[in-house]
Amino acid sequence: MNFELSEQQRAIQKLARDFAERELLPGVLERDAQEIFPLDAFRKLGAMGLYGLPYPKEFGGMGGSPLDYVLAVEEISKVDAAFGISFSVNTSLYGGSIMNSSATEEQKKRFLSPIASGKAIGSFGLTEPNAGSDAAGQQTIAVRDGDDYILNGSKCFNTNGPVADYTVIYCLTDPSIGTKSMAAFVVEKGTPGFTVGKREDKMGIRSAQVSDLHLHDVRVSADHMIAKPGEGFKLAMKTLDGGRIGVGAQALGIAKGAFEIARKYMMERVQFGKPICKQQYLAFRMAELYTEIEKAELLLYKAAVLEGEGKPFTAAAAMAKMTCSDTAMRVATECVQLLGGNGYMKGYHVERMMRDAKITQIYEGTNEIQRLVISGGLFR
Ligand code: CAA
Repeated sequence: MNFELSEQQRAIQKLARDFAERELLPGVLERDAQEIFPLDAFRKLGAMGLYGLPYPKEFGGMGGSPLDYVLAVEEISKVDAAFGISFSVNTSLYGGSIMNSSATEEQKKRFLSPIASGKAIGSFGLTEPNAGSDAAGQQTIAVRDGDDYILNGSKCFNTNGPVADYTVIYCLTDPSIGTKSMAAFVVEKGTPGFTVGKREDKMGIRSAQVSDLHLHDVRVSADHMIAKPGEGFKLAMKTLDGGRIGVGAQALGIAKGAFEIARKYMMERVQFGKPICKQQYLAFRMAELYTEIEKAELLLYKAAVLEGEGKPFTAAAAMAKMTCSDTAMRVATECVQLLGGNGYMKGYHVERMMRDAKITQIYEGTNEIQRLVISGGLFR
């Protein structure tokens, strides 16, 4: 067991941290207030190759590991967690769907390379109005028509939906047999009948673009199918295992980002004649938060290492996601309190981090669903 990051991993951290401070920090408050997606910055990070970190070089990736990817999402999310989830959905949920699927080499190159380089953006269409936690309840249907399929249905809560060039759409080819017929297709932006619906007005991660997606008689050729009927549900579940590690990284980044702001503030803020970090009651609270962050980090990095080693990691990812997101919520909320009145004001960032933290307990499987996943493995 080795707790040291490699030199290359520290270099990835530095690359992502420098990018976040240079490109994301300056406009983060304005983007949050006005829900502006930083498309230029998104493309720039892509040109640096970071979206393809965990994917093989032959498909446009960097040939790195899931832990490399986690470190990058974490650094980005310390500064801008909305950007962090756009990155994570692009790489883990869209890219993961392609990589984990039985897609051909040609399909993998075609659908992954533009995403890995940031020239295009990916999204993941699983959730529907009647298929949230119960992902098996899909109502989007694909019907074969010669060499094509015709897709009809609606997806909701699609992160990157409004800005995506490629979306993986999960659907059934035979509703009478349910998930046994679940398939997945890559649907390209601009395909007739494929439209962006209502854009969500959210509590947090406000600059991330989230919307409904509608499919009305959308014709896609069979070479856009990446999971054959019957393979789709397991593909979605396996991909979500990786996605939960991405959300864990986003959440850990929020916790660490808020903690660092509070730590610096407490050394500078003087009350009762001394910096407030000299008040033992406040310093002890920071000691507790620091310990919570370390615990969350251990679970997250362990899950990422298991994934990288090709070992089972479903429960580890669920534990990491649940713990990191609960930690993000607790740490960000406490940091607002530790900064007092200033913490409640936008300029100190921690109130945004507290709002951003909340969704990490909800998406990519609520923390109640994570308990279902973890307990399901206990009694086999
Ligand atoms: N990997 C591979 N296969 C898996 C799997 C996994 N992690 N989990 C389950 N399966 C397989 C099972 O082995 C089973 O296979 P067999 O039929 O061969 O036995 C099959 O899938 C069905 O499994 P379950 O009976 O456990 O399925 P279920 O219907 O009871 O659902 C669930 C399980 C865990 C509750 C699942 O529905 C789930 O994860 N729900 C949450 C959905 C979710 O996370 N949605 C988030 C959407 S993305 C998002 O948030 C958007 C965003 O933009 C950020």
